[in-house]
Amino acid sequence: MKDIYALGIESSCDETSAAIVKNGREVLSNVIHSQIDIHEQFGGVVPEIASRNHVDAISKVVQESIKKAGITMEQIDIISCTYGPGLVGALLVGVSYAKGLSYALNKPLIPTNHIHGHIAANYISHKELEPPFLCLVISGGHTHLVHIKTYTEFEILGKTRDDAVGEAFDKVARVIGLGYPGGPKVDKLAKEGSPNIELPKTKFDNLDFSFSGIKTAVINLHHKNPEINKADLCSSFEKVVTEELIDNTLKAAKILNINKIALAGGVSSNSYIRNEFLKLQDEGYKIYYPEPVLCTDNAAMIASSGYYQYLQGKTADLTLNAVPNLKIND
Ligand code: KG4
Ligand code: ZN
Repeated sequence: MKDIYALGIESSCDETSAAIVKNGREVLSNVIHSQIDIHEQFGGVVPEIASRNHVDAISKVVQESIKKAGITMEQIDIISCTYGPGLVGALLVGVSYAKGLSYALNKPLIPTNHIHGHIAANYISHKELEPPFLCLVISGGHTHLVHIKTYTEFEILGKTRDDAVGEAFDKVARVIGLGYPGGPKVDKLAKEGSPNIELPKTKFDNLDFSFSGIKTAVINLHHKNPEINKADLCSSFEKVVTEELIDNTLKAAKILNINKIALAGGVSSNSYIRNEFLKLQDEGYKIYYPEPVLCTDNAAMIASSGYYQYLQGKTADLTLNAVPNLKIND
């Protein structure tokens, strides 16, 4: 079969990214322009500012991704762009750019779900990984336990009823004064502490998650006693969150009799969570997670997911619009 070169475009939040990926798995370039420094002063992403910065960056980022890949624009076979979920103004920048390029080059436009992209990051890091498997998608906006039935069929087994895991990490970090984005800062500080503070753990009859109770408990402990050891607090928070993630994932693995478990999304670069999941290998599970640069938002994962949709004939026309609250199964 002829090689397929996919251009991926990602602009759902605060990263403008473009990538060239060959046959869904081989990254030739993955250019990521982060706006973290710009939003840091506001303690979170400001949507309007994000959109304007995407407009500034997108052309340069796409050109650079093609140059770095060592291909010409004409060699691009498909254009895969994130059309949801995310911030509407931010998404529209990538979607509009992709539509213009698809029209100009006369190449298929592939509408890609950001969450499918996070899952597909595992195909790049693990060349042997194929569906079916379980994937725990943990990011700033999502906490989903998903059964990946085929490359394009997904069943949600459980999801958060309140905060996403990354959101809880970010809020805890902000309240105890670590700054934004909080996840990596909690990760680092937790290594200096011990999990010796008792925190409530949520359990449901089904495979849903909840993190607002744990988050509030941490925040209350800090407010009641500002002298409390922050490293111990971070370490205890990570331990309870990870236990909840592992409990549900194992329950699902047993119900479906699946031994392949993948992690995806920004929070899957957390070192404690990775290590705890890796311990499950002793019980016969195979654990996968993407390399850190592919865990957080990037366009290589969007190109990979787009490739598998293209093989199924899933393309869009120029009426494609951004869908800010796109669901995994839409
Ligand atoms: O996937 P992502 O880049 O964006 C979304 O689609 O949401 O995830 C960003 C989230 C943020 O909440 C960030 O704090 C969290 O991932 N994160 C981490 C770590 N690195 C990023 N959380 C915990 N530990 C980390 N090492
Ligand atoms: Zn994301």
